[in-house]
Amino acid sequence: MTDQTTDGTVRLFSPGRVNLIGEHTDYSGGLVLPMALGVGITIEGTVTPGVVALRSDAVADEVHIELPVGSGVDEPAGWGRVIAPLLEELGLGADRGLTASLSSNLPPASGLSSSSAVSCGLALALAGRGSSWDLDRMALAGACQRAEIAATGVNIGIMDQAAIVVPGPGEALLLDCDTLATEPVRLPDGLEVLVVHSGVYRQLESSQYNDRAASAAELTRRLGPLRSVDLATVEALDDEVLRRRGRHIVTENARVLEMIEVFDRGDVARAGAILDEGHRSLAVDYETSNDEVDAMVARVRATPGVLGARLTGGGFGGSLVAFCEPGTELDVDTWWTRAAPAGGARFLD
Ligand code: GLA
Repeated sequence: MTDQTTDGTVRLFSPGRVNLIGEHTDYSGGLVLPMALGVGITIEGTVTPGVVALRSDAVADEVHIELPVGSGVDEPAGWGRVIAPLLEELGLGADRGLTASLSSNLPPASGLSSSSAVSCGLALALAGRGSSWDLDRMALAGACQRAEIAATGVNIGIMDQAAIVVPGPGEALLLDCDTLATEPVRLPDGLEVLVVHSGVYRQLESSQYNDRAASAAELTRRLGPLRSVDLATVEALDDEVLRRRGRHIVTENARVLEMIEVFDRGDVARAGAILDEGHRSLAVDYETSNDEVDAMVARVRATPGVLGARLTGGGFGGSLVAFCEPGTELDVDTWWTRAAPAGGARFLD
């Protein structure tokens, strides 16, 4: 059963994501703990066999693609470039198609995965409610990850797509990026999550991101799977940059495991401290922060009631995640929101 609804209409919501801890660990088979946000992309349209026609309230360009793609006539550019690889990954033929409008309540270039929310949402809309892709959400995440890599050349891991399509409502997602095993994680009572724009807008900078992914691959080549490597082994590396990159990955994987433990025992103060340590590691060892972002982290961290804060996502700008006591208010000029795990992409109606 791959039909959308009997009248061919499609309505679905695809969320943005925030990563609580486990940053830049996914592409070396590490641990991550993201959650789906209540803000994201809404897709509304109809099934139109042979055509993908999309417009969005967030970008001016419209996408119009005749299927099958690849005739070379209107090879899509811009945000439409993910469509062809998506169709290929999903194994969908020219009998599929979609005419839809997309609306977003996610701030753009915010490090909250708006582009993966689009690709995952479109994949689900194209595959259809009840399709094998709808039913096997981790397989869908992998297909979207590969399609995005093909479209952008940025060698991303699977965290964002998994966070967007897999979790149930009320659940953060512990994901082992080696085995793809998942566990639902509940946030402890007495802890609220804030997501705050750093004020630095960015698109994932491909050169810097791919440089970090290449360092992780080189570390794996030298030391074996990084999940099993201890800190002493990393500290013994003669290459200073690789030593710092490796130190971040090894300690960050440990921070994910510790976060699960402190959530279990409801130690919200320690949960905040883990975010602080995670930020220091990103700033000093992995070098994905910058002065403006560090200043914003310090400002949010100094707010009464805030328990810890760090840069979240790919970095070089984007958003912060903070843990705080319930009801904490921020005094910042940028976009911010309280966030609870809202569940993965879903058909509406
Ligand atoms: C981006 C990528 C993810 C992940 C994060 C950093 O969001 O898409 O795969 O690597 O950066 O944790």
